[in-house]
Amino acid sequence: MSADLNPIEKAKYVSARRAVDYVEDGMRVGLGTGSTAAWMVRCLAEMVRNDGLNITGVATSTRTAELATSLGIKVVDLNEAKWLDVTIDGADEFDDNLTLIKGGGGALLQEKIVATASDKMVVITDPTKHVKTLGAFPLPVEVIPFGWQTTQSLIEKALVDLDVDGRNITLRLNQDASFRTDEGNLILDLHLERLEDAQQVSHVLNQIPGVVENGLFINLCDVVIVGAADGSAIVR
Ligand code: 5RP
Repeated sequence: MSADLNPIEKAKYVSARRAVDYVEDGMRVGLGTGSTAAWMVRCLAEMVRNDGLNITGVATSTRTAELATSLGIKVVDLNEAKWLDVTIDGADEFDDNLTLIKGGGGALLQEKIVATASDKMVVITDPTKHVKTLGAFPLPVEVIPFGWQTTQSLIEKALVDLDVDGRNITLRLNQDASFRTDEGNLILDLHLERLEDAQQVSHVLNQIPGVVENGLFINLCDVVIVGAADGSAIVR
């Protein structure tokens, strides 16, 4: 770890370092996406290199697969691994029930599939990710490109029916073009402000044709590790 990291980056590193304690020799490990998960991949690679740790990784994005492979971690696809011992991933928000908003990096679909196919999901964060009520971070929803504006209208209507606060929806962009996920889909970001009933919103969103998946992770996360810049970590 470089000494000149800012406090948030240090906290991310600390949580990643603590999380790799959950990984044992021979395990199949889900590798999350994002800047915190990238620290975890670097820590695991160090253990592979220096301690002879033998693991098989399943990446949640092309980005993570490239990073892990370049650092010497064996990466296979989920069909080959079939089931995972543990997945370690970041989050954009988590609440006291360990419900998460994920997908800030646009990888929510593979992240959710991989987390669901794991015995344990360990989430690594810095202190800014903890919230009392989810929703300040825009909720990402992955939609197929075909008729996406109609899908957006259907989402708007569903949010009105649910009486959810704040219903501004934006198409995620990558510079001037629309952002594309690894599956070639689009991301709609739902600026909801407050999300009181995550279960209901998640269920309703996933019933809408055109919606592939949403970024709410409910009953998937077993442990959240919140790192701090002073090197300490809280495990929740
Ligand atoms: C990517 C994610 C990330 O885990 C989430 O955005 C957190 O990212 P970071 O660790 O960079 O703050 O869900 O789709």
